[in-house]
Amino acid sequence: MVYPEEIVEEIRQKSDIVDVISSYVKIQKKGSSHFGLCPFHNEKSPSFSVSQVKQMYYCFGCGVGGNVFTFVMQYENYTFQEAVKFLAQRAGVELPEMEYNDDMRKKENRRQQLLQANKDAATFYFYQLRQEHGKIGYEYLRKRELSEETIKKFGVGYAPLSSNGLVAFLRSKGHSDDLILEAGLGSHDERQGIYDKFYNRVMFPIQDINHRVIGFGGRVLGDGSPKYLNTMETPVFDKSRNLYGLNFARTSRKNNVILCEGYMDVIALHQAGFIQAVAALGTSFTPGQANLIRRYSEEVLICFDSDEAGKKAALRAIQILKEVELSAKVILLKPYKDPDEFIKNLGEKAFQERIDHAENSFFFEISLLQEAYDLKDPEDKTKFHKEIAKKLCGFTVDLERDNYLEAIAEKYQIGFENLRKLVQGYAAATGGVAPVNRPKSGMLSKKTSEEMAEDAKKRNQRLLLTWLSEEPQLYHRIKKYIGFEDFTNPLYQKVAEKLFEGIEESTIHPAAIISMFADEGEQKEVAALFNTKLEDLETDQDKQKAFHHIVINVKTASFEESSRKLGSDVMALNKVIQGKKALEELQKTQILID
Ligand code: GTP
Ligand code: MN
Repeated sequence: MVYPEEIVEEIRQKSDIVDVISSYVKIQKKGSSHFGLCPFHNEKSPSFSVSQVKQMYYCFGCGVGGNVFTFVMQYENYTFQEAVKFLAQRAGVELPEMEYNDDMRKKENRRQQLLQANKDAATFYFYQLRQEHGKIGYEYLRKRELSEETIKKFGVGYAPLSSNGLVAFLRSKGHSDDLILEAGLGSHDERQGIYDKFYNRVMFPIQDINHRVIGFGGRVLGDGSPKYLNTMETPVFDKSRNLYGLNFARTSRKNNVILCEGYMDVIALHQAGFIQAVAALGTSFTPGQANLIRRYSEEVLICFDSDEAGKKAALRAIQILKEVELSAKVILLKPYKDPDEFIKNLGEKAFQERIDHAENSFFFEISLLQEAYDLKDPEDKTKFHKEIAKKLCGFTVDLERDNYLEAIAEKYQIGFENLRKLVQGYAAATGGVAPVNRPKSGMLSKKTSEEMAEDAKKRNQRLLLTWLSEEPQLYHRIKKYIGFEDFTNPLYQKVAEKLFEGIEESTIHPAAIISMFADEGEQKEVAALFNTKLEDLETDQDKQKAFHHIVINVKTASFEESSRKLGSDVMALNKVIQGKKALEELQKTQILID
């Protein structure tokens, strides 16, 4: 850990988790916790809980959880160090200056180095654009009507014709050859060694939501193939979980997000004042990206090219957006090909009108469907109406279906009653309109009985830790029988040791224990330890029994484990004997809980 533990803990105490999370997610108080829709997976009813008392969050749906640092790491895509810095600033805590010596630099993790290499590359390309040999790139951008301000805002640069200008620059900044390759900024072959991956292209740095460069899209000047060369996936460049332009769009304060196809479209829209425009990263739009948008906006306006490929892609995007329950509309660009061209020809006022008249995604689907039929031909027309009826069956809410039925009937001048009968016919034939819930049985692998026993063992240990974190005074009743070494899983043992220490000194908070682990995966596991669902036990007697059971189970598992490991070691033998004694005593005693 780079920052001293006391400071990390001070920052945690000054960053109330309910305050911090409610600035990102709508949460409501319900009983002792706050609940809301989980920002990390798609759900309809809130299973994301935030506890003020515990200073932790936990999602009963997808299992994410942790303390305030973990949340910021997950939401902002930060490392632990960065999350500490971010919250320190928010809470007004001054951090000690970090001095990096060679040794620490080596230890700095790979992600940071990859980000630094990308940042250095962006600086390099940006500088090249202003050089004599970069003029050709600059002129290309100006020809496409990018203003000086826009070029700066997006950090657009130029990769020169030279074969290893960037590689040499990155080496001079201390980046190793294998890092340059891993960042996707260089290529390698036997003859030339390492050389620049991008050359003679205008370079669009791709930034994550925190404006950090994570990769590049490079466009040829004029015609040429491939038109775009994109950085491959790297540890910092996950194409399915980032969107071009989202770093600006997330704070646009517009009530929608405009989803386009290309980098140039995003740039043209931002230049025209539509700063809520984003685009996928050279691959098709993904559910991960839809979830990302869902954190910032409830409505997506799809603004894809008006050609066949664009329409097909729009249909797919509608499907994906529906699945995460975002409202989707389609901006029609006719007679122009893409938003860039549209703005150049008709200007921003006309584009705003297209936004205001964006088409409902269902109408859009139906109008595409219609293109396949000749409505002057009665047979074709009938087929078309039947297809509409089938699609209407997709609405499971009666009222919604009826509203669409009415609107479509009017739009395509179909008799309302006739269309309704058709819909009813299809609904009956397919056994009602409710979608069928297929069990995901294929995904569940069968567990062996050994694995199940192991799970039960761990579960008991988790239950005990959760219970003790909620009622720490109980620890004093059981400490005669149970110590941290009774926790058989190494991570659990470490957590138990910290928790018991803290209870003894009545200083520590379970949420503080989480920050002792810098790794997000471990933090999540520790949070789960403190958030295992205890059954709702009605009477004190039931609680008493349950607690007693858990304690005995944990002790028994520990005893069995140490017996198994027992060799000729006298110390170990002693421990086993003590364990057995404690266990017998436990079985006879009543642990009182109040
Ligand atoms: P212009 O055509 O210069 O206006 O750029 P654009 O951003 O509008 O690109 P276009 O609409 O042709 O393509 C949309 C997006 O698809 C681009 O921004 C790229 O992300 C991606 N793309 C286009 N061509 C290629 C290609 O040849 N290879 C790869 N990998 N991606 C491409
Ligand atoms: Mn274009």
